[in-house]
Amino acid sequence: MADADHFDVVILGAGSGGYACALRAAQLGLSVALVEKDKVGGTCLHVGCIPTKALLHAAEVADAARESEQFGVKATLDGIDMAGVNAYKDGVVQRLFKGLTGLINGRGITVVEGSGRLTSPTTVAVGDRTLTGKHVVLATGSYARTLPGLEIDGERVITSDQALTLDRVPATAVVLGGGVIGCEFASVWSSFGTQVTIVEALPRLMAAEDADSSKQLERAFRKRKIKALTGAPFQKVEHTERGVVVHVEGAEPVEAEVLLVAVGRGPRTEGLGFEEAGVTVDRGFVPTDERLRTSVPGVFAVGDIVPGLQLAHRGFAHGIFVAEEIAGLNPAPVRDAGIPRVTYSNPELASVGLTEEQARAAHGDAVETLTYDLGGNGKSQILKTSGSVKLVRRQDGPVIGVHLVGARVGELIGEAQLIFNWEAFPDDVAPLVHAHPTQNEALGEAHLALAGKPLHAHS
Ligand code: NAI
Repeated sequence: MADADHFDVVILGAGSGGYACALRAAQLGLSVALVEKDKVGGTCLHVGCIPTKALLHAAEVADAARESEQFGVKATLDGIDMAGVNAYKDGVVQRLFKGLTGLINGRGITVVEGSGRLTSPTTVAVGDRTLTGKHVVLATGSYARTLPGLEIDGERVITSDQALTLDRVPATAVVLGGGVIGCEFASVWSSFGTQVTIVEALPRLMAAEDADSSKQLERAFRKRKIKALTGAPFQKVEHTERGVVVHVEGAEPVEAEVLLVAVGRGPRTEGLGFEEAGVTVDRGFVPTDERLRTSVPGVFAVGDIVPGLQLAHRGFAHGIFVAEEIAGLNPAPVRDAGIPRVTYSNPELASVGLTEEQARAAHGDAVETLTYDLGGNGKSQILKTSGSVKLVRRQDGPVIGVHLVGARVGELIGEAQLIFNWEAFPDDVAPLVHAHPTQNEALGEAHLALAGKPLHAHS
């Protein structure tokens, strides 16, 4: 075996978790091999966060054109040129990909192309090459799941992977799953002119979020003519000449050109040698302790294969943590509790911390909530967006949940995240001066109200 194949860290998978780990480890002077079977950047960059948000931005532009009259601007929406939309989206991805490749090369990271397999606690095989690492990091990510008996054909029954490269706007679509992916695609397609029906087994859309946020999203979707069948588990799909007929419990069958399956993402851990090397795998996931150590000393896991939130920014945080851990910096563990969540539909949902329901389950009656309507916020009026800021606090304690609904509220989550992670009391936040007019002010106003001194809200 050549010396060139010995590293301080061998990382399996170059998605958000893997490449962040590689960049930070190299920065800390460690020698790094980064194994990737496809392209560095992974799901987030190529078939996830970035391209979907580009589609959502194109959708926002379409909405702006369609609704321009309300601002006194006479524009018309003449149609959606999917080739143009895809060129814009791909351009964004390509520029970021080029930048990332440059960074990785610049830091002297050895990128090994091919499918890697853990062959022992310290070795990864890629083709006929064996990489040895003092430490190994498993960062293989996730894939779009489907349901038993529901076959993805890539044409009429698709996952988000294919939905991202459609060359046409479907006239009708059923979106199976009213979670993050379902709501984001329902939003995009509706803005592009598709008649969308969402099918969700649970009683509400975005069931992991605060019930009030769900309610507002459902109301906004209804206004946008997006149909949501909730409490309606999927039964079966029939193929017809023109598309599919989707059968659900408790509702009439729905006919559509395409069926998007968005029922969650599964961990990509099968057939990669994890269990054979002694790594515990539980229902496909790799359990770790809070220092992201697997059951095998020297082997770490990061990102979507670790049970918990499946979010790119959690992957980044995991990757950085593990690099620093290996370098002996004793970093603070990454807590899922403090990780912000954003759904980029129209309207957006953004949150951090506990929902009201979770807070009540944890603290009983000692929970107080405050909802500030964006109707009282100048910038929201200018943007003609409706929505709200909802704060959840422990009585006489810090804010333990922030829930935002409205256009672009994802950009406000940074401040909410500081409030949550620093365990701020409403009285700590209330005196902060927010720029006027911004949507951020709504967070300030909500805290003023919660501290008992509302300015633009009713006492
Ligand atoms: P999800 O878990 O958010 O939603 C899946 C939905 O499908 C659930 O509401 C579930 O009740 C429903 N479902 C499952 N089986 C069903 C059935 N038989 N009939 C009807 N409904 C059924 O998963 P999703 O939306 O696929 O997203 C996967 C992951 O990717 C999530 O963890 C999400 O956080 C992440 N993601 C994050 C984004 C963001 O941060 N903006 C964007 C896209 C994905």
